[in-house]
Amino acid sequence: MTQFDAQIASTGTELPYTKADFQAIAKMVHAHAGICLPDGKAMLVYSRLSKLLRETGQRSFADYVELITHDATERARAIEALTTNHTKFFREDHHFNHFEQEVRPEMVARLKRGERVRMWSSASSSGEEIYSLAMVLLGTDRREGKQLLQNDIALLATDLSQNVLNVGEAGVYPTSATTDIPRRYFDCWTEKVGDDVRILKEVRDLVRFRKLNLLNPWPIKGQFDVIFCRNVMIYFDEPTKETLLSRLTEQLAPGGHLYIGHSERLIGDCAARYASIGQTIYRKIR
Ligand SMILES: C[S@@+](CC[C@H](N)C(=O)[O-])C[C@H]1O[C@@H](n2cnc3c(N)ncnc32)[C@H](O)[C@@H]1O
Repeated sequence: MTQFDAQIASTGTELPYTKADFQAIAKMVHAHAGICLPDGKAMLVYSRLSKLLRETGQRSFADYVELITHDATERARAIEALTTNHTKFFREDHHFNHFEQEVRPEMVARLKRGERVRMWSSASSSGEEIYSLAMVLLGTDRREGKQLLQNDIALLATDLSQNVLNVGEAGVYPTSATTDIPRRYFDCWTEKVGDDVRILKEVRDLVRFRKLNLLNPWPIKGQFDVIFCRNVMIYFDEPTKETLLSRLTEQLAPGGHLYIGHSERLIGDCAARYASIGQTIYRKIR
């Protein structure tokens, strides 16, 4: 029995679903989003797409494969459904500690000299990562933070999935999702709205949320001082990771900082252009 058959047998499927259907979907997701779906993900694909099959009136996965082969809008919906958007505030907090202690002081000094600051969360999911960064940049003194806001600061948050970008743009999160925000930032830069917590407008206004597939051309002018590209390369194959890292390197200003996820690493020629200065933290040196 193949791994696919074993998964189907152990869980059972209501809608007809074959290994060929899974392989066609995996091929399409890889081609359009770079995401690799190994055989072990067959049931995950089934459970995430069956709702879309029902909504579009398809009776089998074979019919749905046919639909998404020709219908780009439905294909985009299928790809979104297959992305993993897990994130949280101050995830991998050593990155934010490093940013606070080693990068922020220099940045604040530059802002005070009238220079600009640009930062990019390149697989932002629902915004927790970029808002964590924004809060640390603004600091724990509201008055000083408000003064910093008078300067030329722009933060970009991009993702493949429009659904998560909409959440980020609204900047409203269940209180339970905000418990990892250190009190000193929480008190300064959030407010209660009913049972939820909202990121203050002045912080939200710093961030532009934009839909962007990292595999496609990037309509981005200028370089960034800081790029976060965390927990997305894990879904890509080696050539895709290498191309992405090389493009990110071009988009990072000299001396800029790149933060990647805990199980990711620098590969390819671009690695020689960085100094490793902390756990999955790199400074561009050439
Ligand atoms: C696991 S989340 C990581 C979120 C955040 N960076 C963090 O570390 O908490 C991965 C995100 O990458 C996005 N993603 C996957 N493939 C992508 C692609 N080709 N282009 C842009 N975003 C992509 C997904 O939509 C998802 O929101």
